[in-house]
Amino acid sequence: MKFTVKSEKPAAIKSGCIVLGVFERRKLTDAAQQFDKTTRGLLTSLMKDGEMDGKCGQILLVHYPRGTRCERALLVGCGKQHKFSDRQYRQVVAVAARTVNASGAVDAASYLADLEVPGRDTGWKVSNLVQITTGVLYKPDELKSRKDKTSRPLRRLAIHVAPGDTDTAHQGLADGEAIAAGVELARVLGDLPGNVCTPAYLASQARELGKQYKKLRVSVMQEAAMKKLGMGALLSVSRGSEEPARLISLEYSGGAVGDRPVVLVGKGVTFDSGGISIKPAGAMDEMKYDMCGAASVLGTLKACAEMELPINVVGVIPTTENLPSGTASKPGDIVTSLSGQTIEVLNTDAEGRLILCDALSYCKKFDPDVVIDIATLTGACVIALGSHAAGLLSNDDELADELLAAGVTAGDRAWPLPLWDEYRKQLDSNFADMANIGGREAGTITAACFLSRFTEDYRWAHIDIAGVAWKQGKEKGATGRPVSLLTRFLQNRCAAS
Ligand code: BES
Ligand code: MN
Ligand code: ZN
Repeated sequence: MKFTVKSEKPAAIKSGCIVLGVFERRKLTDAAQQFDKTTRGLLTSLMKDGEMDGKCGQILLVHYPRGTRCERALLVGCGKQHKFSDRQYRQVVAVAARTVNASGAVDAASYLADLEVPGRDTGWKVSNLVQITTGVLYKPDELKSRKDKTSRPLRRLAIHVAPGDTDTAHQGLADGEAIAAGVELARVLGDLPGNVCTPAYLASQARELGKQYKKLRVSVMQEAAMKKLGMGALLSVSRGSEEPARLISLEYSGGAVGDRPVVLVGKGVTFDSGGISIKPAGAMDEMKYDMCGAASVLGTLKACAEMELPINVVGVIPTTENLPSGTASKPGDIVTSLSGQTIEVLNTDAEGRLILCDALSYCKKFDPDVVIDIATLTGACVIALGSHAAGLLSNDDELADELLAAGVTAGDRAWPLPLWDEYRKQLDSNFADMANIGGREAGTITAACFLSRFTEDYRWAHIDIAGVAWKQGKEKGATGRPVSLLTRFLQNRCAAS
């Protein structure tokens, strides 16, 4: 899809489809009013006839609007004007993208970025328009031999803004395209099945990124080196699988030499069967998504590199399968982590924390400013927050606030849970320094408590994306979250320094 920024009057437009907003009730936006005049009141009379009244998400597709050079006009309902904000804007843009793409128009001219969104500038609106449109058009059909193609899909979208806003609109366009590319990478990787997207495959994808961007250096550690270093927790998970584990590092150097990096650690379990503590069969296929933390790290680094953000960022990805076999870890096994702390593996399905703890100890070598791990860590997080917000736990309130704010701006929200000392004793073990599970209560928090024992040397936040990384049901598929949250967080840091 080719996006452009333009600044023309709606009356003069020649397009396959012009996209215009209407507020409740039947309140044409400025652009729509101008277009209505050219059509000698066609839109007004259609609305009077009851074709639409502007409810949020409503659509009316008009063919060959008279007096214009457009093949179609799409009116999109924006709801009550005084209630119009981020959420409505996103919904309107998504509905428009879906409808225009199915309409047969090959090119379109959108006036939606011209809508007033409280507190948001044109750059934000254009960036979101690009991201949402790209996201709506994504189809996980990589492995279908016959793609379910739209017959005449949308190819070119001109985003029209006020003449004074074209500079910030161009910036928004570039940002939006970079973030959309990062999100899409995360979605593609997430949707790939476990027999394709293995630890070795993730490593090859990381290397591919390293070839694409010259400021990105990629290295991949094999099991022998992990063993030498003493990553007993990570290796205990890969023991059950024929696929060897990998530890991927990606160093993006956009900032000054010596600037301490933001380190992003992503859980990369390419399939989580639970191991000997095996999961029930129903929906077990969804555990191919257990590498979405890793995918979000790759996607975020791609977005950073595309935008050439002036900041140093390191991605660290421990990746493995979690399978049962004669060599797999057994409940009760005790392993020694890279930190030296011993862990009693009471449940082999609590494997994410085992691979993350060694990665979190390892990333000290990058002298991090802050460390953020991203993981599909607990089913409990899905119960607590559902699919709207990721769980956020941190040992630093300021860092947590920065991440929460970035999530709001990006429309990719997280919500805090407490990381109080009171929860720590749930991990007590009679035989090792800690157990890897903390009982039924507060599962997301005890998982984070476990990780916090490995992150005492730096400022750290943990994002549990179990509920947001993919969708179930008819629209089953990866979401690419939280790439846009993380990218916004990094952009904000660049702006602040
Ligand atoms: N990958 C799962 C978490 C998960 C489950 C994410 C369902 C999304 C949907 C993780 O490895 C896991 O199995 N966690 C266990 C932990 C438990 C054994 C303490 C869980 O949540 O059941
Ligand atoms: Mn598990
Ligand atoms: Zn898992």
